[in-house]
Amino acid sequence: MDVQTLAETARQLVADGKGLLAADESTRTITKRFEKVNVESTARTRRDYREMLFTTDGIGDFLSGVILYDETIRQEGKDGTPLVQHLTDKGIIPGIKVDTGAKPLAPSGLEKVTEGLDGLRERFTEYREMGARFTKWRAVYSVGHGLPSRQCMRANAHALARYAALAQEQDIVPVVEPEVLIDGDHDIAACRAATERVLAQVFAELDEQQVVPEGMLLKPNMVLSGKEASNQAGPDEVARETIAAFKRVVPAAVPGIVFLSGGQSDEQATLNLDAINRWKDEMGAPWELSFSYARALQQAPMQTWAGDNDNARQAQQAFLARARATSAARQGRYTAAA
Ligand code: 13P
Repeated sequence: MDVQTLAETARQLVADGKGLLAADESTRTITKRFEKVNVESTARTRRDYREMLFTTDGIGDFLSGVILYDETIRQEGKDGTPLVQHLTDKGIIPGIKVDTGAKPLAPSGLEKVTEGLDGLRERFTEYREMGARFTKWRAVYSVGHGLPSRQCMRANAHALARYAALAQEQDIVPVVEPEVLIDGDHDIAACRAATERVLAQVFAELDEQQVVPEGMLLKPNMVLSGKEASNQAGPDEVARETIAAFKRVVPAAVPGIVFLSGGQSDEQATLNLDAINRWKDEMGAPWELSFSYARALQQAPMQTWAGDNDNARQAQQAFLARARATSAARQGRYTAAA
C-alpha cells in the first residue's frame, strides 16, 4: 500500500469544481431504468448509451471520475476504442463498482446486507490492470420503527471496512457508500439520527480494519426529510443538518465527501448540494463536499436518448447541462439558470 498514491488519487477525485458520475448500474438496475424510457436492455444498447455519455465533449471539465460496472469496463465503443480509454483520454479516472448487491439479512430478511467479499482481492488485481484507480461498495439502510437495527449496521460496516482495506492494499481508492434511504414518511431528525449512528459504526469499523482515512472517500446520503414526509426541509436546513451530523462522526483526515442523489429530483439534488457548499466555510466543514450522482446526472440524457443513437448529440447536450449545473452547485455557485 502506498498511502501517498492513494491520497493523491482521492484528492484528484474531489478536485475543485469536479465530481463523480456513477454509471455503475448493475444490468438489473439499468434494465429497469431503460424500461421506463421503452428501451430494450442488451449488451449493445447498454454500450451505446454509456459510450454516448463518455464521449460528450467538454465533460472532463466537470467530472474527475466515472464509476463503471464490470460489463462496461470490458466493453469497446463502436470504433473499437475501449470505453475506459474514452474516459482516460479526457483525464477522467475510471472506477469500478465491486459489490454484488444488497441481499436480505438473515434471519428476518427485513433489512439488507451487501455481499461481494469472496474473491475480491483477485478481482481488484484484474480491475487495476484494466485501469481502475478507485472503487465503490454500497450498503443500504431503511429508517423506521427500530430501523436501522444494530445487527444491520454492524454487518454492513464490517463488510464496507473489509472491502476498503482490500482496495487500499492495491492502491485503489475505496469510495465507502453507506446510504440511509430516502423512502418513508420520517422527518429530517430521524434521518439525521440514523445517519449519525450508521456513520459512527462505519468509521469505528474502518479504524478497526486499519483503513487509511486520507486514502478514501465517503459517499453518503444527504440528511433529508423522508420522501413521503408532509413537511419537507428546504436546502438551508438540509445543508446545516448534513454538515452538523458529519462533523460529529467523519474524521477531518477524509479528503472528501461525495454525495449520492438518492432519488431526489434533479433540481433538489442540485439545490441541496449548492446549499451544502454555501454553508461549508461558515460551519467549518473540513472536507471537500462534492457529488457522485447517478440519477441526478443521467435522468435527462437517458430520456433524450431513448434508445435512438440519432438523438445522441442532443442527449449529450442534456448530460453536459446537468454536469455543468452540478459542478456549479459543488462550488456553491448554482443559480437555476446556470
Ligand atoms: P444515485 O445518485 O442515483 O443515488 O446513485 C448513486 C449511486 O451510485 C448509488 O449506488
